[in-house]
Amino acid sequence: MAIRKTMVAGNWKMNGSLELVTQLSNAVNSVKSNEIDIVLFPPFPLVPALVDSGVTTGTQTLSENTPGAFTGEVDAQLIKDLGAEYVLVGHSERRSIYKESNATVAAKFARAQQVGLTPILCIGESESEQENGQTEHVVAAQIDAVIEKLGVAALKHSVIAYEPVWAIGTGKTASPEQAQAVHKFIRDKIASLDSDLAQGLTILYGGSVNEKNSELLFAQPDIDGGLIGGASLKADSFTAICNSAKGTV
Ligand code: 13P
Repeated sequence: MAIRKTMVAGNWKMNGSLELVTQLSNAVNSVKSNEIDIVLFPPFPLVPALVDSGVTTGTQTLSENTPGAFTGEVDAQLIKDLGAEYVLVGHSERRSIYKESNATVAAKFARAQQVGLTPILCIGESESEQENGQTEHVVAAQIDAVIEKLGVAALKHSVIAYEPVWAIGTGKTASPEQAQAVHKFIRDKIASLDSDLAQGLTILYGGSVNEKNSELLFAQPDIDGGLIGGASLKADSFTAICNSAKGTV
């Protein structure tokens, strides 16, 4: 079985400051280890400062277009040139607030890879979809949009983050068993097309992860780390979460 890398990623959303860059970069640099990849996703203007601090950096979105008349958008090549290595695509807040469709998300995924950025494809069902038993259907469609555009091989240089929308910022985490079941469904689905690729694919869980629940979540066989929102803004919580991911491979 392929060895997968464990990752702990911090999505700052529209929060943060130069002061937070100093605090979190000191904290992350103190817990860095070969066992896990730690990546922070600050707002765009903080990317250069975070890169300079030595922390692996990503952005929270990117434009699917190449440079041109797209006021307010940010080009993938510029993100890459500034030293970022990862980019979130299809975060549920982008899908719901900014109406990004599965097709748009797939186009962003493609543009990221075109310049050598690693996309983290965020997927997950809403509360009503979960209540109606549509979780597998929804996440499958979100993944299929990328596979149909680019082929399954494109997932090799990517990460998937399963974030049930009902668990984001609500304090209502999926139980380890519940999250594991969806992660296994995702891995099995991809394995039906390319088994080696699926075994090597890092699949993160996100949604109200904190230092109290991270260890049990990360211990699940198909959960390879986490995408952390609120708790990634607090140095103590985030470093505790990073430490709980060590030794879970
Ligand atoms: P919370 O950890 O605040 O629930 O946010 C999760 C998330 O959306 C990370 O991308």
